[in-house]
Order: sequence, then C-alpha cells, then structure tokens
Amino acid sequence: MRHKITIIGAGNVGATLAQRLAERDYADIVLVDIVEGLPQGKALDLLEAGPVVGYDSLITGSNGYAESAGSDVVVVTSGIARKPGMSRDDLVMTNAGIVAGVVRQASAASPDAVIVVVSNPLDVMAQVALAVSGFPRERVVGMAGVLDTARFRAFLALELGASVRDVQAYVLGGHGDTMVPLTHLSTVAGVPVADLIPAERLEQIVQRTRDGGAEIVSLLKTGSAYYAPSAAVAQMVDAILLDTRQVLPCSVHLRGEYGISGVFSGVPARLGAGGLLEVIEVALSEPDQRALGRSADAVREVVELIERSRTQIQADLPPLLAPPPA
Ligand code: APR
Repeated sequence: MRHKITIIGAGNVGATLAQRLAERDYADIVLVDIVEGLPQGKALDLLEAGPVVGYDSLITGSNGYAESAGSDVVVVTSGIARKPGMSRDDLVMTNAGIVAGVVRQASAASPDAVIVVVSNPLDVMAQVALAVSGFPRERVVGMAGVLDTARFRAFLALELGASVRDVQAYVLGGHGDTMVPLTHLSTVAGVPVADLIPAERLEQIVQRTRDGGAEIVSLLKTGSAYYAPSAAVAQMVDAILLDTRQVLPCSVHLRGEYGISGVFSGVPARLGAGGLLEVIEVALSEPDQRALGRSADAVREVVELIERSRTQIQADLPPLLAPPPA
C-alpha cells in the first residue's frame, strides 16, 4: 500500500513540499489549509501534473482532517509570518495557537503518524506539537538543521568551486541566531574546511548561514524561503517512510543528550521507520557545547513565555515543560 502524507498549510512551503513528494511517487498526499479552495485548487493542479511528469500519487485538498485520517507522516507548515508592528512574542503566541489547533486535530485523525514540524519559531513549535499530540518523542521531530546545513554546504561549495555533493557539514542548535555550526566536523571531499578556508572568511560564511533565512526575506520583500525548506523536509520524510536510517540534523526533544533536558534542539538524529531512531552524540569542543547550551536556553525562555501567557492561546494547551514520560 502507498504511504499517506498529510501536509498542513498549503502555502509556499506546504505546496512546494507536496510537489516534491508527489514527484517521488511513493505516497498519496493530503493538503490541508484553512483557506477555502486553496488546498483543493493546489491539489488538483498537482494531480493534473501527474500524467506529464509521470507519477500516480493521489493529491487531495481539504479544509478539514477527515481526509487525512491514517496518515503515516504529518508535516506542519501552518502559521503566519511576522507582520509589520508585530513583535516576535506576538508571532510566537499566534503560531503556538495555530500549531496547537492543527496538531490536536491531525494527531487525533492519525494517531500513529510521525509529525514533522516546520512552522517557526521551529524548536518552540515542535515543543507545542509534542505536548498537544501526546506522542512519544520519537514521533515528533522538527526541520531546521537539514536546511541550515544545506545553506552552509551551498555557501562552502560556492566559495571553493566544489560540488555540493563533496561538502559535508554539521550544524547543531536552534534554528536561526543560535545555530551552532561545527566547522571542525565540516569537510570537503574529506578535507576539513578549516584547512581550505582562512578562519576569518570561514566566520563570514558561518554568519551568512546564520542569516540565511533573513537574506532571502530581504530579497523577496514578502514571504520567506520555501525551495530549500521544502527540499529539507522531503529528505526527512524520505528517511522516515523509506526507512533509510540516515543521520540528519533535526530538532529533537532532548532527554539528557548533550547535557540538555526537556526542550527541543538541533542534533544529529538517525531517522527511519517510526521517526527518530537514535540521537547521535558527537564530541563537541567546550565553546560548541556552551553555544549549544545557550541555544537550548533560548528555546526554554520562549517556551516559558508561552506557559506564562497560555490564556492568550485559545487552545487548552497541556504543560509544555512537563517531565518526559518514564
Ligand atoms: N490551519 C491550516 N492552515 C493554516 C492555519 C490553520 N489554523 N493557519 C494558517 N494556515 C495556512 C495559511 O492559510 C497559509 O496557506 O498556513 C499557510 C502558510 O503558508 P505561507 O504563508 O505561504 O507560509 P510558508 O512560506 O509556507 O511558511 C510556513 O514554515 O518556514 C516556516 O517560517 C515559516 O512558519 C512558516 C511556515
């Protein structure tokens, strides 16, 4: 039987992801959005591309969750972007409410699914999804590291005139400012990048990676990146549904790994059938370990902000920092 994937949010990331996954031809896809007609229209358009591109994936659009029942993977991209005059905290509250609402419905319809969270702020939204779904941590992962790593790899390849295929890179920590690139583990055809690029220049490339999302937003003026984000999610979905057991940097609910407990942060994770198979602990330098700790603290602060303001979120939110089940 074909796999079934639900994508919540039929905007730029969701629709582009639907196209990428449809073209892989191993799953049927349900696109869900609150805007009437939007998921239906995009789904039909994608279905009609099948005969030309050559896929049999069934793509359905819906404003509800009945069609999504029994999905193997649920990808959450719903949310709003920051609007003028809106603080970062306002955005957090709004998106927490949206993510809580959609995860509640989607997890009830697909109780065995693996949830992949994409909505921002990523690590915090993953925390909301974990609490609301009540799923084990193995079945709630966030997409950030694959994207951050892809940006870093792209910039390194550009710098050296190398093939992106030869560039391996590690990026841990939170998505955005608190990202922790592990330059000592990043290599080009096996050679450490630090041997190929002067330290000062490498730092500039790291900074460009950190600002990767913002660079695109400032060019686009409206909206944010979606080609690379959707490609990153598709790689995670492949790993889960095709059971590739690939190690990918993902946001995971940490339970003591890297000295962090109770919050999501980006770490190397083996993904396969059923979601997270294993967190891989690589040796970190002291400064990297500290940076990872600071990154987790930043996530915890925002989660605590939601806890304090939970009445603003009309979503009957369970405790977000509850101790993990034994
Ligand atoms: N239920 C379902 N869909 C919703 C809901 C909801 N409660 N609220 C909003 N949406 C939908 C919107 O109608 C919109 O179609 O989510 C979609 C979001 O799409 P875009 O605005 O195009 O945003 P996109 O660029 O796809 O980014 C989505 O991914 O990378 C992150 O920061 C980004 O959080 C953002 C998310």
